[in-house]
Amino acid sequence: MTLPLDGITPHGGQLINRIATPAERQEFLDQADYLPRVQLDDRLLSDLEMIAIGALSPLTGFMEKADYEKVVTEMRLANGLPWSIPITLSVDADGAEYLKEGEWVRLDDPQGRFVGVLELTSKYRYNKAHEACQVYGTDDLKHPGVKVLYNKGAIKLAGPIWLLQRYPHPLFPQYQIDPTQSRALFKEKGWNTIVGFQTRNPIHRAHEYIQKCALETVDGLFLHPLVGTTKDDDIAADVRMRCYEIMLDRYFPQDRVILAINPASMRYAGPREAIFHALIRKNYGCTHFIVGRDHAGVGDYYGTYDSQIIFDEFEPGELGIVPMKFEHAFYCKRSQQMATTKTSPSTPEERIHLSGTKVREMLRRGELPPAEFSRPEVAAELARAMNIATYEI
Ligand code: ADX
Repeated sequence: MTLPLDGITPHGGQLINRIATPAERQEFLDQADYLPRVQLDDRLLSDLEMIAIGALSPLTGFMEKADYEKVVTEMRLANGLPWSIPITLSVDADGAEYLKEGEWVRLDDPQGRFVGVLELTSKYRYNKAHEACQVYGTDDLKHPGVKVLYNKGAIKLAGPIWLLQRYPHPLFPQYQIDPTQSRALFKEKGWNTIVGFQTRNPIHRAHEYIQKCALETVDGLFLHPLVGTTKDDDIAADVRMRCYEIMLDRYFPQDRVILAINPASMRYAGPREAIFHALIRKNYGCTHFIVGRDHAGVGDYYGTYDSQIIFDEFEPGELGIVPMKFEHAFYCKRSQQMATTKTSPSTPEERIHLSGTKVREMLRRGELPPAEFSRPEVAAELARAMNIATYEI
């Protein structure tokens, strides 16, 4: 892959910046009390932030109907550019009635603070069952992403947005590295090829194995845990970040790895979300993206490798980021190391593989993951977080 001198091109050609300039911000603040308001939940707030910092380039706001419909049915924006997940702002029909096209709408955070502005260009109705089946592959309300969709209002509001200012992350300000900054960092380090890693679980040895296998063939590893809203039974982001700090301190070379937060919320859309995750990392400046087993999956809604196969639906090079696909990794007792069926002749009885789900269940029962699954320092941190008192390393 040949790279332009200033790094990989953002999706759609240029990195979007929708953070209000001081003058724009003043204008918005002057009008704050007179604008109609829409209160965002945490997921929408994260979408607003992601658009503003360019992580969702080329999006400049919440999707118009033409973009939305083509994304839902064809995984493309109206202009044909690949895009797999709708980014939309839905409100109740009653509330939407008072909002006029062509006017500014004040966007408040869940605490009622003024954080952004939407220039309302259009309003439209949509079909939830259609969106669910296309994007999530199911309209089962037990699916966490479908459940969120069905709780949304009936009208979508579209138009460009501004974020009033870049707010430091309340928990991880030191790891808030926006796309302009990650791109500058990669350049500063002289990295030409960078592999991005998405995760919503505490780091385990299969993660470490595929991260390191990938790093063997590129210049740098961009560890990018998702810290936006996840489902209730996922492990909290602060615990996951502490596990990463422990791992970086002890098991990774500092000069080859950057840890940063991905402020996105989780959709659990499996294959569609794998494409979305890859495009986000492209905007952060990654040239490669790791896709392992059941990426962004939940329950048994998706096949183990569906999130890899979906990349074949695009022309080679069209996405502008290279997926690095990994088979299901496990600890191989015979060779006493991590492996996959590609690299180990072991019988199923000789393999230790646990999923994030199984580990969460173990932790909830007060049990700790074995050393073949988690590094002991990480297991100890999880134990501490889950108040499992008896464990010592
Ligand atoms: S995800 O929802 O963010 O995909 P998770 O944090 O569990 O969940 O996974 C992060 C990445 O590691 C994904 O690409 C996933 O496919 C991959 N992965 C997780 N466990 C394994 C495993 N045992 N073998 C191979 N890849 C894995």
